Amino acid sequence: MGHGIAQVAAQAGFDVLAIEAQQNALDAGYKRIQTSLQKVIAKDVSKGVYKDEAAGKIAYDEILSRVKTTTNMKDAKDCDLIIEAIAENMDLKISFYENLGPIIKPEAVFASNTSSLQITKMALASGRPKQFVGLHFFNPVQLMKLVEVIRTEHTSDKVFDSLLAFGKDINKVTVSCRDTPGFIVNRLLVPFLSQAMLMVDRHEASVTDIDISMQLGAGHPMGPLHLSDYIGLDTIYSILLGWKKDYPKETAFVIPKCLEKRVKDGNLGRKSGKGFYIWDGDKPKGPA
Ligand code: 3HC
Repeated sequence: MGHGIAQVAAQAGFDVLAIEAQQNALDAGYKRIQTSLQKVIAKDVSKGVYKDEAAGKIAYDEILSRVKTTTNMKDAKDCDLIIEAIAENMDLKISFYENLGPIIKPEAVFASNTSSLQITKMALASGRPKQFVGLHFFNPVQLMKLVEVIRTEHTSDKVFDSLLAFGKDINKVTVSCRDTPGFIVNRLLVPFLSQAMLMVDRHEASVTDIDISMQLGAGHPMGPLHLSDYIGLDTIYSILLGWKKDYPKETAFVIPKCLEKRVKDGNLGRKSGKGFYIWDGDKPKGPA
């Protein structure tokens, strides 16, 4: 998701430093920004936002020039806002924030794009809990209008308000809720996705029939299994695994067998080319 966040911030006029631990991941993310930005600008040219293709190309170059890249965390020392979008694993995030705190200038604000983990734990590990929020984006970040802004009991009013303003600056609609598992969207969405997978486990309907039903019968843009592949089955699995561990009595948090098997086999959905569907880039070709 990091590339999408970097892109929307650059489109809104912010200077962005995109950081990945590995150069190949950084290159892949940068390429995704280029591809997506080309689509966005082409659409804006056709809508008349830019008068012609040449003006669109100038805008494209300008936006892209605002995105710098690095694999060295220390290059971020003077950034005002750090948005973290690393894998959904609390141990990883805690160690990331413990290392980050001393490197970055003291007045900078930290925001985690976690899908499901407790913001308070990360805020305390960062050493600057007053300047820490959850800032949760949605896939694809370039198109989805919502950002959830999560404060903890430690977050200062000034920091919280500045993040609500940042959401507006990057042309998103913000909502907020308490530091609760999955915040608003994922607390409702992930149990829904896992219920669809439990139907697959019980052989009650085919993957395509479940998806068509929710698209045509409930008006969802993507059916739940299509959407699960699109998000990443490993992401959904990590969310459910964490919740099951932390909230063993919550019956809405279950791990479907068809999800576990696919993740263990490396079939993670869109990102690996196979999950509930076979994928060709960002489009499913047919059921796997
Ligand atoms: N960047 C720029 N443009 C993009 C794009 C991207 N990343 N992805 C798609 N587009 C463009 C396409 O090129 C297309 O443009 P066109 O109209 O000029 O041809 C347009 O957007 C529509 O795309 P598609 O034709 O591919 O498909 P759809 O009409 O189905 O729209 C969608 C795509 C907006 C993704 C829609 O299917 C949708 O809203 N799906 C549900 C997504 C969702 O629920 N996301 C939330 C997941 S939960 C989450 O992320 C939280 C996490 O914590 C797990």
